[in-house]
Parts: sequence; C-alpha cells; structure tokens
Amino acid sequence: MIPAKTTERREFYSSLAPYYDQIYGFIDYRKQARLFDILFKRFGSSGGKKLLDLCCGTGSHMVYLKELGYVPTGFDISADMLAVARQKLPYTPLIQGDLRDLKLSERFDFISCWFNSILYSRPKEVFMRTVKQVWAALDPGGVFLFDVVDKRIGIGAAEKTYESCESGIEITFRPRWFYRGTGEDLELVIRFTFNGKDGVKEWVDRHLLCALTFAEVEEMMRSIGFETSWFDKNYEAPVARAGDGYRSIVVCKKTE
Ligand SMILES: C[S@@+](CC[C@H](N)C(=O)[O-])C[C@H]1O[C@@H](n2cnc3c(N)ncnc32)[C@H](O)[C@@H]1O
Repeated sequence: MIPAKTTERREFYSSLAPYYDQIYGFIDYRKQARLFDILFKRFGSSGGKKLLDLCCGTGSHMVYLKELGYVPTGFDISADMLAVARQKLPYTPLIQGDLRDLKLSERFDFISCWFNSILYSRPKEVFMRTVKQVWAALDPGGVFLFDVVDKRIGIGAAEKTYESCESGIEITFRPRWFYRGTGEDLELVIRFTFNGKDGVKEWVDRHLLCALTFAEVEEMMRSIGFETSWFDKNYEAPVARAGDGYRSIVVCKKTE
C-alpha cells in the first residue's frame, strides 16, 4: 500500500522505491542518457568509460548508459531504491552510502548525479566536501556531470502540475520550490496523487536541499580546479546556457 501521509525523506524513498519508475514514467531516460554520452564525448579525455552514478535511484540512467558502452557503478542512500536497480542491473556494482560522507577508493572517467540530487549534500561546507571527493575520484580528463537549480527558483514559486497515466493508474505530480530569500535551505515539496483501482492515494514529499546560486556553484567548482561548462536543461541537444532560467546542466572537467 502507498502511504497516504507525509514521511521523512529517507523513509520516503524506501516506501517510494516500488512505485518510483511508474511515477516518473514520463521521463525519457534513454534520451537523457544520450545527452550524457554526447557531453562526455565532447569534454572527457581520460580514455575510459568507467561511470559512477551518484544518487542513482532505480538505475535507469545506468541501464541506457551501459547500452552505450559505459561500465557503471551505482551509489545511493536507499537500499530499497538500489533493490529496484539490482533487478535491472544484476551484475552492476551498487554501493549504499550517503553522498554527504562520500569517500571513494576507486577511480572513474565519468561521475554523474542527476535530478538535482547533488543538492542533497548540504549545507554549503558539506556540498564542497562532496565535490572535492568527486574531484579526487576522477581520473585526469574525467568529467563530473550534474543538473542543478539556482536557489532563486524557490522565491515566490507556484506549484506546478504534471499528469500522466501508467498501467491504468492516473498519476498527478505537483512540485513546488520554496526559498525564503535568505539562509541555506532550499525546499522542494512534491504532492503526488495516484488514482487507480484501489482508489485515490495521496503522498507528500519534502526534500531539504542546499540553497546555492549558480555563481556560488561555479565559484566552488573553479576553486577545486574544475573547468566548467553550463548548458540549458534541454535533452534534445546541448545548448550553451545563455538565458536567466534557474535550471541548468553543468559539465565539470578535471583538467589533465
Ligand atoms: C530524485 S531521485 C533521483 C534518482 C535518479 N538519479 C534519477 O534521475 O532517476 C533522488 C535519489 O537520491 C537518493 N538520495 C537522497 N539523499 C541522498 C544522500 N544523502 N546520499 C545518497 N543518495 C541520496 C535517493 O535515495 C534517491 O534515489
């Protein structure tokens, strides 16, 4: 049964795991993986295709990246999300761990972290520590790819509504960003509604994230030594960030 109550984030992902792929069935992971591949080929020069997907969730990016020749390892805090990933990727290394305590002994060519998940590493000092660990785990010429929002996305933001229908279940997904204008907390509240044969179920999810501007992210990445390139959140093809939107894709190259 889906819990019709507000839950803590960690607990939430555990209870969400069996439904996650259904809820996010509208996301075209194959297309996203193709964009990852285009960006890695454009910026990466480490010579290999060893991939680490941080906050990998149910592993959908890894499935398609594997088809494109990458050798993935997944990392996520939730054993239940990893259990779903395991069904799709029986022989892929999957590590259960907390991004905020990241320490890796292996080296990778490519490290990805999607769905704004890098912002789970909070507050700012912890974000910085995580990104330093990512740097240390990359081979020279390697690439760190993530998507991120600027904290100003949450100032006066309205709730959005997305609807989809998967296997006869109507799913309504209502995200809303909150940022008070000061402080280190960016909040994403998502209300889900499932309307299926068992009736209507509601779910409210609260994510506490690291509140940063793009300028702060840029400054941190550069101070570590990364060369950064910023792109619009566009999965058709990479488009260099030009506008004033608050969503972006960031490619960070570890220079050789
Ligand atoms: C929105 S999902 C994104 C999953 C996947 N990257 C995708 O694009 O479908 C966020 C994931 O981050 C994981 N997560 C949340 N906090 C984390 C942390 N502190 N350390 C590692 N993983 C975390 C959750 O368990 C969940 O699987």
